[in-house]
Amino acid sequence: MKRTLLYLAVPALCLALFILLSATPGMAHKAKHAPEQLKAFDDVFMEQVRIGDLLFHGDAATEKKMKTKLSRTGMACAMCHPFAVDNHPHEFPKFQEQINKFSTLRDMINWCIEKPNEGEKLDPDSDAMKALEAYIYWSNRGSKLDPGRH
Ligand code: HEC
Repeated sequence: MKRTLLYLAVPALCLALFILLSATPGMAHKAKHAPEQLKAFDDVFMEQVRIGDLLFHGDAATEKKMKTKLSRTGMACAMCHPFAVDNHPHEFPKFQEQINKFSTLRDMINWCIEKPNEGEKLDPDSDAMKALEAYIYWSNRGSKLDPGRH
């Protein structure tokens, strides 16, 4: 009798636990962000987009402030990529023929700085790199992810 009870109790407990867990929505973000928090996050993002925009357009003061040398040819990114076109951030990472390796967007930004621009490549984790990345993604927002595409 006792054994039968145990055989029933264990699966019943498991089932109860399963139902409880599946009914609980994602544990990580239980509380929704308040509108003012969301605005604060967006402000941080847009501030980076603005810095990236200035760098992308070759603004000398921003370049100096961020201690970068993105070009020695007088060509800014935007002269070859107006409004960040042809940057295809949604296609990275992919095998990039010019670099002959599986490359991230940051690898490609550095390729352009070194090759056509003859500038000094950025530390991939630098503030300038993150700002350029933010501007490029923002300009291409709405694109469907299609990593690996050529
Ligand atoms: C003189 C013109 C020129 C300038 C200036 C230039 N690029 Fe490029 N960029 C290119 C060319 C050419 C390619 C290669 C396109 C290809 O073959 O995919 C490219 C490709 C890219 C790509 C990858 C696009 C893809 O889908 O493969 C990114 C990202 C990029 N450039 C960012 C930048 C950034 C950031 C700057 C400024 C620091 C910059 N470029 C400046 C000419 C330029």
